[in-house]
Amino acid sequence: MIEFRAEHFSLDFEHEKKWYPAVTDFNMHIDAGEMVALIGESGCGKSITALSMIGLQPPNTRIMGHMYLNGENGPEDLNELTKKEWTSIRGRRISMIFQEPMTALNPLIKIGKQVRESLLTHQKGISKKEAKSLVLEQLKSVGLPDVEDLYDCYPHQLSGGQRQRVMIAMAFINNPALLIADEPTTALDVTIQTQIMDLMRQMNKKTNTAILLISHDLGVVSRLCSRVYIMYAGRIVENGPVDEILTNPLHPYTKGLVDAIPDITKRGKPLKAIPGSVPGLYARSNTGCGFAERCEYCTNKCQKEVPPLVQDGGRAVACWNKSFDSGRGNTHD
Ligand SMILES: Nc1ncnc2c1ncn2[C@@H]1O[C@H](COP(=O)(O)OP(=O)(O)O)[C@@H](O)[C@H]1O
Ligand SMILES: [Mg+2]
Repeated sequence: MIEFRAEHFSLDFEHEKKWYPAVTDFNMHIDAGEMVALIGESGCGKSITALSMIGLQPPNTRIMGHMYLNGENGPEDLNELTKKEWTSIRGRRISMIFQEPMTALNPLIKIGKQVRESLLTHQKGISKKEAKSLVLEQLKSVGLPDVEDLYDCYPHQLSGGQRQRVMIAMAFINNPALLIADEPTTALDVTIQTQIMDLMRQMNKKTNTAILLISHDLGVVSRLCSRVYIMYAGRIVENGPVDEILTNPLHPYTKGLVDAIPDITKRGKPLKAIPGSVPGLYARSNTGCGFAERCEYCTNKCQKEVPPLVQDGGRAVACWNKSFDSGRGNTHD
């Protein structure tokens, strides 16, 4: 069952009375209980897409297209929600985990009270005592120790990893249909990263929440997600099942990301980085393929026409030089 679906979603930023496309024709679906990744380098448009999914895009933007969340009466278009409707949905039906928990937690309010607050806001009629015991249970379930003591701690008294566990406890406490985690482990040590990722997967299995995991690092998320969407300069350039993307990337950008994953079997070999960087919003030409400048296979056509995202079964790629025919059998016969 599809829990979330984006259809031809686009977002432009206004700058000195001109509109600049930050996200163009974004399509995605996430099933209930599924964990899906959105991958791309910094500046590709991942965070602004995520913020739009939770109704927090900045004011100097305009959005087009649709984002649907499955509701009691069928799919609801999130882009049609009023501010008031958003306050009821945010934190309850859709929640979000950010990269730096210290900015998301209020430094002046004790941990327990903050988690309890998200429960009291959305679960009418629940007593403070009931809420406290649910919070303690939830803190325990995300692997935090000595939760009775922790309840009365301030955020700065916890480690970075513990704070992110608190954020996860808070994000899941109202049993959301959709959870968006925007680079949830980028600020953490590598060993802690793995633990937090495993916890996300564990919570996903336990709650059946649809999860969108956002990262610039394909390696970090690949073992946990079923499918991956690769974004470049505001567009999805490839998507498909993780194992197929890793073993047979079709888009040159995806290939670059796969080559950049550290592999212990290739010890000693230098990591391949993709030369160049994502062009800034105001510097994009918006004619031709966004990756053309950095692409070793770039042709004239690539510089002139935007390649469409061509779908074949569970996979899709937007590249003039790649077709599904080579090596994967002809889909037309
Ligand atoms: N408030 C803003 N005003 C103007 N441009 C912005 C704003 N926020 C982000 N951008 C631009 O939008 C593009 C996408 O940014 P972002 O979604 O943060 O990328 P990512 O999360 O993939 O690193 C970037 O070029 C960024 O500079
Ligand atoms: Mg970001």
